[in-house]
Amino acid sequence: MNENVSCLILAAGKGERMRSDLPKVLHSLGGRPLIRYAIENARLLKASNIVVIVGHKAPLVREALKGEKVTFAVQREQLGTAHAVVCGLPALKRSKGLLYILYGDVPLIRPETLRSMKERLVEEEASLVVLTAEMKNPSGYGRIVRDGRGEVSRIVEHKDAEDWEREIHEINSGIYLVRIEDIRSPLRRVRQNIVKGEYYLTSLVEGLLAEGKRVTTLKADDAQEVMGVNTRRELADADAELQRRIRNRWMEAGVTMWSPETIRIDAEARLAPDVVLHAGTVITGKSAIARGAEIFPYSVIEESVVGEGARIGPFAHVRPESHVAAGAHVGNFVELKKTKLGPGAKANHLAYLGDAVIGSRANVGAGTITCNYDGFHKYPTVIGEEAFIGSDTQLVAPVRIGKRAWIAAGTTVTQDVPDGALAVSRIEQRNIPSYDAKRRRKVKRV
Ligand code: UD1
Ligand code: CA
Repeated sequence: MNENVSCLILAAGKGERMRSDLPKVLHSLGGRPLIRYAIENARLLKASNIVVIVGHKAPLVREALKGEKVTFAVQREQLGTAHAVVCGLPALKRSKGLLYILYGDVPLIRPETLRSMKERLVEEEASLVVLTAEMKNPSGYGRIVRDGRGEVSRIVEHKDAEDWEREIHEINSGIYLVRIEDIRSPLRRVRQNIVKGEYYLTSLVEGLLAEGKRVTTLKADDAQEVMGVNTRRELADADAELQRRIRNRWMEAGVTMWSPETIRIDAEARLAPDVVLHAGTVITGKSAIARGAEIFPYSVIEESVVGEGARIGPFAHVRPESHVAAGAHVGNFVELKKTKLGPGAKANHLAYLGDAVIGSRANVGAGTITCNYDGFHKYPTVIGEEAFIGSDTQLVAPVRIGKRAWIAAGTTVTQDVPDGALAVSRIEQRNIPSYDAKRRRKVKRV
């Protein structure tokens, strides 16, 4: 049963209906390009060879997949799905065994479903398994036509279908598992469709049956899995389904979510048990949230690490490459960028902390700003352990505040502050007595 497995991922199409400069398969879903979902599935199937068929804006697609162990094959003109597979065959020359045909724009297919296709193929000694699904509204999809014994006899495209065929609700997902050796000759014999002028991969079904080969189907339990993304509407639908799955997975893993439908988590984020997420939380990229951390409403955490028991928000913005250590607090209207907030440190109100390293248990007062940018370059700020930064402080970087140093409220810090020292930079306060009365008299005279 341990046969060699290869995967062919079709990603040559333009996706005109997205109305975008970006190739369709590079549109982002859950924080990564659509095509990565197919590649990840190929990985999970332990494919020894992953061939991606590129065409429209191929250099951009290649660039986006840099570092991935995949082979590219080019389909210069999009002459149809069968033609696309033919373009991939040279790259599969030495491959024997099984070939999955996947799509760069079908991201939600579960690896278990693909594995079941393999079981079906082996059980039935078939040359081809078509993944199908039952759809309430099958319009636009190819339909599975069965003979008197209930066996698949062909697939008819919606455009070419007779009225009675359009009544069929079982659709072709476009995903197949084939025996590579068996499809080479029927592929060569696929003729151009007269209506669309394309070479249809679906013709493979009749081609194989004519050769006396066995063709079978597997119906996905959940039609959502085979949903393709052709429009922005469908992208949003796929996103809704993906977010639902991601949230359910983390809730099962021990994360509490309040108003889960308002929470967004990217595919590659990681959450530990006993994390609590409140309404409107957004967690992007490869962020990692440790045990017991609590994220209060409407906070955004991008590509960052949050330590055990840390508290963030409400209304906090943790920007990429930040690290909020265990037990640290980030309060409302606080923005962190590329900043390390040490264990137990607090920045509870209204602050901008960029390119900063803040020691453990330091206290950053309301209105503190790291002035990290001089219009040309970015500079670091270092704040020592247990330092106390008074409210409305500007820290003009590069600058270093010592351990247990004190910064008086309203100070503009332009020089390093030694350990344990107090820095203060304000003009002394002067009170002018009876100012109000004097002023009123003056105004009356005019
Ligand atoms: C195809 C199937 C249809 C099925 C549907 C499922 C055929 C003839 N029809 O129709 O039965 O119900 O998918 O979504 O196969 N592509 C290329 N090169 C080409 C043409 C297409 O790489 O020359 C890629 C596209 O980028 C896309 C995929 O193949 O990712 C499907 O092509 P598309 O034209 O969207 O096929 P459908 O009309 O949706
Ligand atoms: Ca399609």
